[in-house]
Amino acid sequence: YDVVIVDNLSNSEQTVLDGITAIVGTCPDFVQADCTDASIMDALFSHYTDIVGVIHFAASKAVNESVEKPLLYYRNNIMSLVTVLEAMRKYKVHNIVFSSSCTVYGQPDAEHLPVGEDAPLKKSLSPYGNTKQINEDVIRDEAYANSSLRATILRYFNPIGAHPSSMIGELPNGVPQNLLPFVTQTAIGLRKELKVFGDDYNTPDGSCIRDYIYVVDLAKAHVKAVERMLNQNTDEQVEVFNLGTGCGLSVLEILHTFMRVTGTNVPYQIVGRREGDIEQVWAKADKANNVLGWTADTPIEDVLLSAWNWEKKIRQ
Ligand code: UD1
Repeated sequence: YDVVIVDNLSNSEQTVLDGITAIVGTCPDFVQADCTDASIMDALFSHYTDIVGVIHFAASKAVNESVEKPLLYYRNNIMSLVTVLEAMRKYKVHNIVFSSSCTVYGQPDAEHLPVGEDAPLKKSLSPYGNTKQINEDVIRDEAYANSSLRATILRYFNPIGAHPSSMIGELPNGVPQNLLPFVTQTAIGLRKELKVFGDDYNTPDGSCIRDYIYVVDLAKAHVKAVERMLNQNTDEQVEVFNLGTGCGLSVLEILHTFMRVTGTNVPYQIVGRREGDIEQVWAKADKANNVLGWTADTPIEDVLLSAWNWEKKIRQ
């Protein structure tokens, strides 16, 4: 596919395009714009008359920040989706892939672990999580009203890692909130020690369990989702898929595996629980495996090495 990237660069840098160009051999079109800006979205869709699908990633994603700045999250995350859907309706673009999150499940009850797409959604603990739930509803309501719309909702578990070429990867602003960038920054000496948030959870080693998925595997699922809609391989207007490995790993397992495969030492300290953390969640990924024809199969060792190689490259 030919790709047009739209980004307001609020949490990214235009130099990412150089990395993409080095990997794929061509530079995608790039428009610096905010997806909440209706006039720019209108101009964009009227300029690119042959758009066949939209992959909507644009959103803020820091859980803590969302508690402090709820309106920013409701504006950014909900208005951007609504604005993009309005432009899609006007310009008759029928296919959208939406980045949702496993956060919509909250802490699943024991009988729903691993968690499948039909598990009940729990009231969200943060404005961030709430925007994901609301946006899923926005898509369903628009699909009900607009019979030509097709949507694929992808519920991401915990994406980590960098492209194997180390040409593109994660660039968090300031002190990382997520586990893996904090681990790699500690390993390289930028942070003194990792704080492990809690070892008194009801899990085998007491630390929280998540389903860590390689970001490159995750990216490939989006291509599968677009193809499925374009080839009209489904009668359903809105489909939901969990994107995870199906395997849960604890914080301590991630940490020790990272140290083993990279040969680094990551100083760490066990501290109290982080407010709002879920104890354990991992995906039942059978639907994505069987229906989408997609599997997250990169070994965790390779994933952790990719993150480490990327960290070393950007600190050169
Ligand atoms: C959460 C959301 C996810 C969202 C993401 C965005 C859930 C289940 N997941 O991910 O949907 O996209 O935020 O940021 O709600 N940890 C440490 N020390 C650290 C950092 C993290 O011990 O310095 C631990 C956390 O307690 C957690 C695990 O590492 O158990 C993963 O944390 P993180 O990477 O922040 O992701 P989630 O909170 O799972």
